[in-house]
Amino acid sequence: MRIDIITVLPELLRSPFEASILKRAIDKGLVEVHLHNLRDYSTNKHKNVDDYQFGGGAGMVMMIEPIDACITKLKSEREYDEVIYMTPDGETLNQGMANQMSMLKNIIILCGHYKGVDQRVRDHFITKEISIGDFVLSGGELAAAVVADSIIRLIPGVLSNETSALTDSFQDNLLSPPIYTRPAEYKGWKVPDVLLSGNFSKIDQWREDKALEHTKNRRPDLLE
Ligand code: ADE
Repeated sequence: MRIDIITVLPELLRSPFEASILKRAIDKGLVEVHLHNLRDYSTNKHKNVDDYQFGGGAGMVMMIEPIDACITKLKSEREYDEVIYMTPDGETLNQGMANQMSMLKNIIILCGHYKGVDQRVRDHFITKEISIGDFVLSGGELAAAVVADSIIRLIPGVLSNETSALTDSFQDNLLSPPIYTRPAEYKGWKVPDVLLSGNFSKIDQWREDKALEHTKNRRPDLLE
């Protein structure tokens, strides 16, 4: 898979891909992540990528020309399955969307900034708009990193068996059950006996029951 991220702040997006699981996925050749500085596509000598709103109003708007130049160049090099725009008024990210996107070959993610992008970018280039929740970030970069992380960890071969995504919260519309490690007793606080029993069918049943109970308590909407 290849992910091209278009941003005015590439420095904000370097470190997420330089550590741990995402770095290993890149090193193994399972995913390529390319950062594109929108300023490199600016058509004026000041390297501006934003301008005042038509009709007045506070806040700058990202201009269409540099975005068109960058997306058109990328599209001339390969085909893209989705051109995603990170915006608080997009569809809220969930595990199902991450699962679907992890099966794509090439995607572009455009990070919004300032007040947002000229509407014509959304009308003519964007195929999917994603929000990571009902709150407003300073820009789309951290949201893009969240989307990329949620996708990359699902690409076959990225996670080992022990960290398999199949047991993640949300995979069956259930939250994960509680987990424990050594010591079996700490300050008198004990790990549930069943987990130490060695009876794996009992353990599976216990985990299922706990996952359901936890989901009922915390996210009953997932069970509707
Ligand atoms: N840009 C600013 N806030 C955002 C959010 N909540 N999700 C995605 N992109 C954003």
